[in-house]
Amino acid sequence: MTNPIHLRNRWYVAGLSEEVTDKPVASPILDEPLVLFRTPSTGQVVILEDRCVHRQAPLSLGEIVGDNLQCGYHGIEYDCSGACVRIPSQKQIPPGAKIRSYPCIEKQGFIHVWMGDQSICNSVEPYDFPFASDSEWRVRYAHLYGRFDHRLLIDNLMDVTHLPFAHKSTIGASGVAEQAVAKTERDRDRVRITRFMENIAPAPAHVAVTGYSDNVDRWQVIEYAPPGFVWLQVGSSKAGTGGRDAEPENMLLDRHTLHLAMPETDKTTLYLWVMANKADGLTTEQEDAIYDASVLAFNEDIVIIEAQQDRWDGNPKIDVGADAGALEVRCLVDRLIQEETESGELQAV
Ligand code: FES
Ligand SMILES: [Fe+2]
Repeated sequence: MTNPIHLRNRWYVAGLSEEVTDKPVASPILDEPLVLFRTPSTGQVVILEDRCVHRQAPLSLGEIVGDNLQCGYHGIEYDCSGACVRIPSQKQIPPGAKIRSYPCIEKQGFIHVWMGDQSICNSVEPYDFPFASDSEWRVRYAHLYGRFDHRLLIDNLMDVTHLPFAHKSTIGASGVAEQAVAKTERDRDRVRITRFMENIAPAPAHVAVTGYSDNVDRWQVIEYAPPGFVWLQVGSSKAGTGGRDAEPENMLLDRHTLHLAMPETDKTTLYLWVMANKADGLTTEQEDAIYDASVLAFNEDIVIIEAQQDRWDGNPKIDVGADAGALEVRCLVDRLIQEETESGELQAV
Protein backbone atom coordinates (compact mmCIF):
# COMPACT_ATOMS: atom_id res chain seq x y z
CA MET A 1 0.00 0.00 0.00
CA THR A 2 1.39 3.46 -0.87
CA ASN A 3 1.61 6.03 1.89
CA PRO A 4 -1.36 8.37 2.05
CA ILE A 5 -0.61 11.96 1.03
CA HIS A 6 -3.76 13.46 2.51
CA LEU A 7 -5.09 13.89 6.01
CA ARG A 8 -8.59 12.44 6.33
CA ASN A 9 -9.83 13.59 9.72
CA ARG A 10 -9.98 17.28 8.84
CA TRP A 11 -12.51 19.75 7.56
CA TYR A 12 -11.83 20.50 3.91
CA VAL A 13 -13.65 23.17 1.92
CA ALA A 14 -15.74 22.09 -1.06
CA GLY A 15 -17.00 25.47 -2.25
CA LEU A 16 -18.17 28.98 -1.54
CA SER A 17 -21.50 29.58 0.18
CA GLU A 18 -22.55 31.96 -2.58
CA GLU A 19 -22.18 29.18 -5.19
CA VAL A 20 -24.40 26.61 -3.51
CA THR A 21 -28.03 26.95 -4.48
CA ASP A 22 -30.95 24.64 -5.22
CA LYS A 23 -29.10 23.55 -8.39
CA PRO A 24 -26.78 20.63 -7.60
CA VAL A 25 -23.12 21.33 -8.20
CA ALA A 26 -20.19 18.89 -8.39
CA SER A 27 -17.09 19.45 -6.28
CA PRO A 28 -14.76 16.46 -5.94
CA ILE A 29 -12.49 16.43 -2.88
CA LEU A 30 -9.74 13.87 -2.21
CA ASP A 31 -10.72 12.09 -5.40
CA GLU A 32 -14.24 11.45 -4.06
CA PRO A 33 -17.07 12.79 -6.21
CA LEU A 34 -19.26 15.13 -4.14
CA VAL A 35 -22.47 16.93 -5.03
CA LEU A 36 -23.56 20.02 -3.10
CA PHE A 37 -26.98 21.64 -2.94
CA ARG A 38 -29.31 23.62 -0.68
CA THR A 39 -32.70 22.29 0.32
CA PRO A 40 -35.40 24.70 -0.84
CA SER A 41 -37.39 24.30 2.39
CA THR A 42 -34.64 25.23 4.89
CA GLY A 43 -31.67 26.53 2.88
CA GLN A 44 -29.54 23.88 4.56
CA VAL A 45 -26.47 22.76 2.60
CA VAL A 46 -26.31 19.03 1.86
CA ILE A 47 -23.31 17.12 0.54
CA LEU A 48 -23.78 13.67 -0.95
CA GLU A 49 -21.75 11.28 -3.02
CA ASP A 50 -22.04 12.37 -6.64
CA ARG A 51 -22.86 8.92 -7.99
CA CYS A 52 -26.21 7.27 -8.46
CA VAL A 53 -26.51 3.74 -7.05
CA HIS A 54 -28.36 2.64 -10.16
CA ARG A 55 -25.98 3.16 -13.09
CA GLN A 56 -23.44 5.54 -11.55
CA ALA A 57 -24.64 8.70 -13.30
CA PRO A 58 -23.32 11.87 -11.61
CA LEU A 59 -26.15 13.22 -9.48
CA SER A 60 -24.84 16.73 -10.08
CA LEU A 61 -26.46 16.36 -13.53
CA GLY A 62 -29.83 15.94 -11.86
CA GLU A 63 -32.11 18.39 -10.09
CA ILE A 64 -33.74 19.11 -6.75
CA VAL A 65 -37.32 17.95 -6.40
CA GLY A 66 -38.89 19.00 -3.11
CA ASP A 67 -35.88 18.60 -0.82
CA ASN A 68 -34.69 15.47 -2.65
CA LEU A 69 -31.93 15.10 -5.21
CA GLN A 70 -33.25 13.46 -8.36
CA CYS A 71 -30.90 11.63 -10.71
CA GLY A 72 -30.95 13.11 -14.20
CA TYR A 73 -30.88 9.68 -15.87
CA HIS A 74 -33.80 7.49 -14.70
CA GLY A 75 -35.14 9.76 -11.98
CA ILE A 76 -34.20 7.93 -8.77
CA GLU A 77 -34.50 10.29 -5.79
CA TYR A 78 -32.35 10.58 -2.67
CA ASP A 79 -33.14 12.38 0.57
CA CYS A 80 -30.63 14.52 2.48
CA SER A 81 -29.20 11.48 4.26
CA GLY A 82 -28.42 9.86 0.91
CA ALA A 83 -31.15 7.24 1.23
CA CYS A 84 -32.92 6.30 -1.98
CA VAL A 85 -36.56 7.26 -1.40
CA ARG A 86 -38.18 6.94 -4.83
CA ILE A 87 -37.72 4.88 -7.97
CA PRO A 88 -40.14 6.07 -10.64
CA SER A 89 -40.39 2.69 -12.38
CA GLN A 90 -41.19 0.62 -9.28
CA LYS A 91 -42.62 0.84 -5.76
CA GLN A 92 -39.98 -1.18 -3.93
CA ILE A 93 -36.68 0.35 -2.83
CA PRO A 94 -33.95 -2.32 -2.94
CA PRO A 95 -32.11 -2.83 0.36
CA GLY A 96 -28.83 -0.91 0.54
CA ALA A 97 -29.92 1.68 -2.01
CA LYS A 98 -28.10 4.53 -0.37
CA ILE A 99 -25.26 6.88 -1.23
CA ARG A 100 -22.77 8.34 1.18
CA SER A 101 -23.59 11.65 2.87
CA TYR A 102 -20.89 13.94 4.26
CA PRO A 103 -21.03 16.13 7.36
CA CYS A 104 -20.82 19.78 6.35
CA ILE A 105 -20.66 23.16 8.04
CA GLU A 106 -21.31 26.51 6.41
CA LYS A 107 -19.06 29.10 7.99
CA GLN A 108 -17.69 32.50 6.99
CA GLY A 109 -18.66 32.07 3.36
CA PHE A 110 -17.20 28.58 2.95
CA ILE A 111 -18.73 25.11 2.81
CA HIS A 112 -16.59 22.86 4.99
CA VAL A 113 -16.84 19.12 4.44
CA TRP A 114 -15.64 16.28 6.63
CA MET A 115 -13.79 13.61 4.65
CA GLY A 116 -12.75 11.25 7.44
CA ASP A 117 -14.15 9.18 10.29
CA GLN A 118 -17.60 10.68 10.83
CA SER A 119 -17.76 9.57 14.46
CA ILE A 120 -15.17 12.18 15.44
CA CYS A 121 -16.11 15.15 13.24
CA ASN A 122 -17.66 17.02 16.17
CA SER A 123 -14.36 16.98 18.03
CA VAL A 124 -12.57 19.03 15.34
CA GLU A 125 -13.31 22.67 14.51
CA PRO A 126 -13.38 23.89 10.92
CA TYR A 127 -10.82 26.57 10.05
CA ASP A 128 -11.61 29.97 11.50
CA PHE A 129 -11.04 33.19 9.52
CA PRO A 130 -12.59 35.68 11.95
CA PHE A 131 -12.39 38.65 9.56
CA ALA A 132 -15.12 37.05 7.44
CA SER A 133 -17.60 37.26 10.31
CA ASP A 134 -16.64 40.69 11.62
CA SER A 135 -18.57 43.70 10.34
CA GLU A 136 -15.44 45.85 10.65
CA TRP A 137 -13.96 43.92 7.75
CA ARG A 138 -15.31 43.68 4.22
CA VAL A 139 -14.67 40.43 2.38
CA ARG A 140 -14.61 39.35 -1.23
CA TYR A 141 -14.17 35.82 -2.50
CA ALA A 142 -12.63 34.26 -5.60
CA HIS A 143 -12.93 30.77 -7.04
CA LEU A 144 -9.96 29.56 -9.07
CA TYR A 145 -8.81 26.20 -10.32
CA GLY A 146 -5.53 24.54 -11.16
CA ARG A 147 -4.41 21.35 -12.91
CA PHE A 148 -1.75 20.61 -10.32
CA ASP A 149 -1.08 18.88 -7.03
CA HIS A 150 -2.37 21.24 -4.32
CA ARG A 151 1.01 20.97 -2.57
CA LEU A 152 2.65 22.93 -5.37
CA LEU A 153 0.23 25.78 -4.68
CA ILE A 154 1.10 25.68 -0.99
CA ASP A 155 4.80 25.76 -1.92
CA ASN A 156 4.05 28.83 -4.02
CA LEU A 157 2.26 30.62 -1.18
CA MET A 158 4.95 29.77 1.36
CA ASP A 159 7.72 31.19 -0.83
CA VAL A 160 6.85 34.73 -1.82
CA THR A 161 10.31 35.39 -3.27
CA HIS A 162 8.57 34.60 -6.55
CA LEU A 163 6.66 37.89 -6.47
CA PRO A 164 9.20 40.12 -8.28
CA PHE A 165 9.48 37.61 -11.12
CA ALA A 166 6.06 36.00 -11.53
CA HIS A 167 4.09 39.17 -10.72
CA LYS A 168 6.14 42.00 -12.22
CA SER A 169 3.14 44.07 -13.23
CA THR A 170 1.05 43.62 -10.08
CA ILE A 171 2.19 42.71 -6.58
CA GLY A 172 5.90 42.16 -7.22
CA ALA A 173 8.75 44.48 -6.22
CA SER A 174 12.43 43.56 -6.26
CA GLY A 175 12.92 44.16 -2.53
CA VAL A 176 10.51 41.34 -1.71
CA ALA A 177 13.10 38.75 -2.75
CA GLU A 178 16.30 40.59 -1.91
CA GLN A 179 15.70 42.72 1.15
CA ALA A 180 13.53 40.70 3.48
CA VAL A 181 14.33 39.86 7.05
CA ALA A 182 12.55 36.53 7.31
CA LYS A 183 11.89 34.02 10.04
CA THR A 184 10.18 30.62 9.88
CA GLU A 185 8.46 29.12 12.92
CA ARG A 186 6.57 25.92 13.47
CA ASP A 187 4.37 24.84 16.32
CA ARG A 188 2.18 21.77 16.69
CA ASP A 189 0.08 22.26 13.61
CA ARG A 190 1.04 25.61 12.12
CA VAL A 191 3.94 26.92 10.06
CA ARG A 192 4.47 30.67 10.08
CA ILE A 193 6.82 32.84 8.02
CA THR A 194 7.31 36.44 9.04
CA ARG A 195 8.97 38.77 6.55
CA PHE A 196 9.78 42.46 6.88
CA MET A 197 11.14 44.54 4.03
CA GLU A 198 12.27 48.02 4.94
CA ASN A 199 12.48 50.94 2.58
CA ILE A 200 11.72 49.11 -0.67
CA ALA A 201 10.00 50.23 -3.86
CA PRO A 202 6.22 49.71 -3.77
CA ALA A 203 4.58 47.12 -6.04
CA PRO A 204 2.89 48.52 -9.18
CA ALA A 205 -0.57 47.35 -8.08
CA HIS A 206 -0.13 48.98 -4.70
CA VAL A 207 0.86 52.30 -6.27
CA ALA A 208 -2.25 52.08 -8.41
CA VAL A 209 -4.43 51.52 -5.34
CA THR A 210 -2.84 53.92 -2.84
CA GLY A 211 -1.44 56.58 -5.18
CA TYR A 212 1.78 56.48 -3.12
CA SER A 213 4.91 55.80 -5.17
CA ASP A 214 7.75 56.54 -2.72
CA ASN A 215 9.49 53.76 -0.84
CA VAL A 216 7.58 51.72 1.70
CA ASP A 217 8.10 49.35 4.59
CA ARG A 218 6.29 46.14 3.69
CA TRP A 219 5.40 43.01 5.65
CA GLN A 220 4.09 39.54 4.95
CA VAL A 221 3.11 37.13 7.69
CA ILE A 222 2.17 33.81 6.13
CA GLU A 223 0.68 31.02 8.17
CA TYR A 224 -0.14 27.52 6.97
CA ALA A 225 -2.73 25.36 8.72
CA PRO A 226 -3.71 21.87 7.58
CA PRO A 227 -5.19 20.57 5.42
CA GLY A 228 -4.71 23.49 2.99
CA PHE A 229 -5.25 26.94 4.50
CA VAL A 230 -2.73 29.75 4.07
CA TRP A 231 -3.48 33.01 5.88
CA LEU A 232 -1.57 36.08 4.81
CA GLN A 233 -1.34 39.27 6.82
CA VAL A 234 0.14 41.73 4.37
CA GLY A 235 0.57 45.44 4.18
CA SER A 236 2.79 48.45 3.78
CA SER A 237 3.33 51.85 5.34
CA LYS A 238 5.36 54.88 4.30
CA ALA A 239 9.04 54.03 4.78
CA GLY A 240 10.41 54.87 8.20
CA THR A 241 7.07 55.56 9.87
CA GLY A 242 6.86 52.49 12.09
CA GLY A 243 6.03 49.57 9.78
CA ARG A 244 3.04 47.62 11.07
CA ASP A 245 2.73 50.07 13.96
CA ALA A 246 2.54 53.16 11.75
CA GLU A 247 -0.09 55.78 12.54
CA PRO A 248 -3.19 55.59 10.34
CA GLU A 249 -2.08 58.53 8.17
CA ASN A 250 1.11 56.65 7.27
CA MET A 251 -0.50 53.26 6.78
CA LEU A 252 -0.97 52.41 3.10
CA LEU A 253 -2.34 48.86 3.09
CA ASP A 254 -3.18 46.55 5.98
CA ARG A 255 -5.00 43.44 4.86
CA HIS A 256 -5.78 39.83 5.56
CA THR A 257 -6.25 37.21 2.90
CA LEU A 258 -6.85 33.49 3.06
CA HIS A 259 -5.89 31.06 0.32
CA LEU A 260 -7.46 27.61 0.31
CA ALA A 261 -5.64 24.88 -1.63
CA MET A 262 -8.08 21.99 -1.61
CA PRO A 263 -7.07 18.71 -3.26
CA GLU A 264 -9.77 17.85 -5.75
CA THR A 265 -7.62 14.97 -7.02
CA ASP A 266 -3.88 14.32 -6.69
CA LYS A 267 -3.34 16.46 -9.79
CA THR A 268 -6.14 19.04 -9.63
CA THR A 269 -6.85 21.71 -7.06
CA LEU A 270 -9.86 23.73 -6.01
CA TYR A 271 -8.30 27.11 -5.26
CA LEU A 272 -10.46 29.45 -3.21
CA TRP A 273 -9.51 32.85 -1.88
CA VAL A 274 -10.96 35.56 0.31
CA MET A 275 -9.61 39.01 1.02
CA ALA A 276 -10.57 41.13 4.00
CA ASN A 277 -10.06 44.86 4.07
CA LYS A 278 -11.03 47.23 6.87
CA ALA A 279 -14.59 48.29 6.06
CA ASP A 280 -13.64 51.95 6.42
CA GLY A 281 -10.13 51.54 4.95
CA LEU A 282 -10.48 51.46 1.18
CA THR A 283 -13.01 52.84 -1.27
CA THR A 284 -14.97 50.41 -3.41
CA GLU A 285 -12.84 51.44 -6.40
CA GLN A 286 -9.63 50.75 -4.50
CA GLU A 287 -10.98 47.42 -3.37
CA ASP A 288 -11.96 46.52 -6.94
CA ALA A 289 -8.47 47.43 -8.11
CA ILE A 290 -6.72 45.31 -5.52
CA TYR A 291 -9.12 42.41 -6.06
CA ASP A 292 -8.55 42.48 -9.82
CA ALA A 293 -4.77 42.77 -9.46
CA SER A 294 -4.74 39.87 -6.98
CA VAL A 295 -6.79 37.57 -9.18
CA LEU A 296 -4.61 38.49 -12.15
CA ALA A 297 -1.54 37.58 -10.08
CA PHE A 298 -3.05 34.25 -8.97
CA ASN A 299 -3.74 33.36 -12.57
CA GLU A 300 -0.08 34.09 -13.29
CA ASP A 301 0.76 31.60 -10.54
CA ILE A 302 -1.62 29.02 -11.98
CA VAL A 303 0.04 29.20 -15.42
CA ILE A 304 3.47 28.58 -13.88
CA ILE A 305 2.38 25.85 -11.47
CA GLU A 306 0.48 23.92 -14.16
CA ALA A 307 3.59 24.00 -16.33
CA GLN A 308 5.72 23.04 -13.32
CA GLN A 309 3.42 20.06 -12.64
CA ASP A 310 4.14 18.68 -16.12
CA ARG A 311 7.83 18.39 -15.20
CA TRP A 312 7.59 17.67 -11.48
CA ASP A 313 7.38 13.92 -10.95
CA GLY A 314 10.55 11.91 -10.82
CA ASN A 315 12.96 14.77 -11.38
CA PRO A 316 15.46 15.87 -8.72
CA LYS A 317 14.99 19.28 -7.10
CA ILE A 318 17.47 21.57 -5.41
CA ASP A 319 16.27 23.46 -2.35
CA VAL A 320 17.25 27.03 -1.47
CA GLY A 321 16.85 28.97 1.76
CA ALA A 322 13.54 30.48 0.72
CA ASP A 323 12.03 26.98 0.62
CA ALA A 324 12.25 26.73 4.41
CA GLY A 325 8.54 27.38 5.02
CA ALA A 326 7.37 25.08 2.24
CA LEU A 327 9.62 22.28 3.49
CA GLU A 328 8.37 22.79 7.05
CA VAL A 329 4.81 22.40 5.77
CA ARG A 330 5.65 19.11 4.09
CA CYS A 331 7.31 17.83 7.29
CA LEU A 332 4.32 18.91 9.38
CA VAL A 333 1.78 17.27 7.09
CA ASP A 334 3.84 14.07 6.90
CA ARG A 335 3.95 13.93 10.70
CA LEU A 336 0.20 14.57 11.04
CA ILE A 337 -0.58 11.89 8.45
CA GLN A 338 1.65 9.45 10.28
CA GLU A 339 -0.11 10.24 13.59
CA GLU A 340 -3.49 9.81 11.95
CA THR A 341 -2.46 6.51 10.38
CA GLU A 342 -1.08 5.20 13.67
CA SER A 343 -4.17 6.20 15.67
CA GLY A 344 -6.33 4.47 13.05
CA GLU A 345 -4.20 1.36 13.32
CA LEU A 346 -4.45 1.44 17.13
CA GLN A 347 -8.23 1.65 16.94
CA ALA A 348 -8.31 -1.25 14.51
CA VAL A 349 -6.33 -3.50 16.92
S1 FES B 1 -28.34 6.13 -13.18
FE1 FES B 1 -29.45 7.26 -11.75
S2 FES B 1 -31.48 6.65 -12.00
FE2 FES B 1 -30.37 5.44 -13.39
FE1 LIG C 1 2.07 34.32 -6.59
